[in-house]
Amino acid sequence: MLIRKPDDIPSSEITPESMYLNRRKFISTASGLAAAALVPGSLAACAADNDSQQPLADKLTPYEDVTRYNNFYEFGLDKGDPQKRSGGFRTRPWTVTVDGLVKKPGSYAFDDLIRQHQVVDRTYRLRCVEAWSMVIPAAGDSAGGGNPPRGATPAAKFVEFTTVLRPAEMPGQRRAVLDWPYTEGLRMDEAVHPLTLLATGLYGRPMPNQNGAPIRLVVPWKYGFKSIKSIVRIRFTESQPQTAWNESAPDEYGFYANVNPEVDHPRWSQARERRIGELRRRPTLPFNGYADQVAGLYQGMDLRRFY
Ligand code: MTE
Repeated sequence: MLIRKPDDIPSSEITPESMYLNRRKFISTASGLAAAALVPGSLAACAADNDSQQPLADKLTPYEDVTRYNNFYEFGLDKGDPQKRSGGFRTRPWTVTVDGLVKKPGSYAFDDLIRQHQVVDRTYRLRCVEAWSMVIPAAGDSAGGGNPPRGATPAAKFVEFTTVLRPAEMPGQRRAVLDWPYTEGLRMDEAVHPLTLLATGLYGRPMPNQNGAPIRLVVPWKYGFKSIKSIVRIRFTESQPQTAWNESAPDEYGFYANVNPEVDHPRWSQARERRIGELRRRPTLPFNGYADQVAGLYQGMDLRRFY
């Protein structure tokens, strides 16, 4: 199994970043079939999936930066707080409840969930609303085929995600910064889009606590706040769910939050971004560079109004 607890992994098994990059290069250049024959187990499945999705021209953001510069307000407001203060956060046992407009609501142990799903390996760009960005190799479950899950009822049109509420382990939740627990939502077609990932790993290792262990969302064409961390509940709804940031500052954070260089945040421009680890600022791309794959979801919508 690809995903294991961090303390189960001897340091000899952790792939150094340089080797990881070589392996990625190999996977992305090998043809699907050849890669399937040569790389083990779940990685073989990844290769084919990954080829069409990987932003090959992008240099990966170093692991150290990806895990030390984070937004995870449950652990504090400073970008260094999540790494410094999430050591005592317990991610096992972990249960995810699936309810709302589903035929069989239920609660599932995280380890059983990932055993039943095919883990894909994917490199994605994350663009934070604060105009920084990173490029990260992640592993997880792509909700996939574009169709609503078979377990959802026909009335289900949206999906709401909720982060764990555990103020004893999450010092940020002891202050009323947001209306805890953090919640987010997607329209059904966004949730089941092949680019949307329920991510459980990073750089070939289990998801670090500060990045949203054990399971988080990655929606790469949207501002980072949509990519909710440490999920304990997935609820299918008929109407658009309320979200933590939209509730807290509706003029600044909309439900859609598609990366859009032409629509500024009320307090700053969104036209440019700075990659973590780089000094220069680069132009921000519509839909974070994924327009070919997702612009069609919003045909006919005024994206200035539905920001
Ligand atoms: N999820 C929760 N539960 N709490 C948060 O504060 N911050 C969001 C998002 N998910 C946040 C969250 C924001 S603003 C960003 S930019 C990304 O997580 C950052 O993810 P990263 O730490 O992997 O860079």
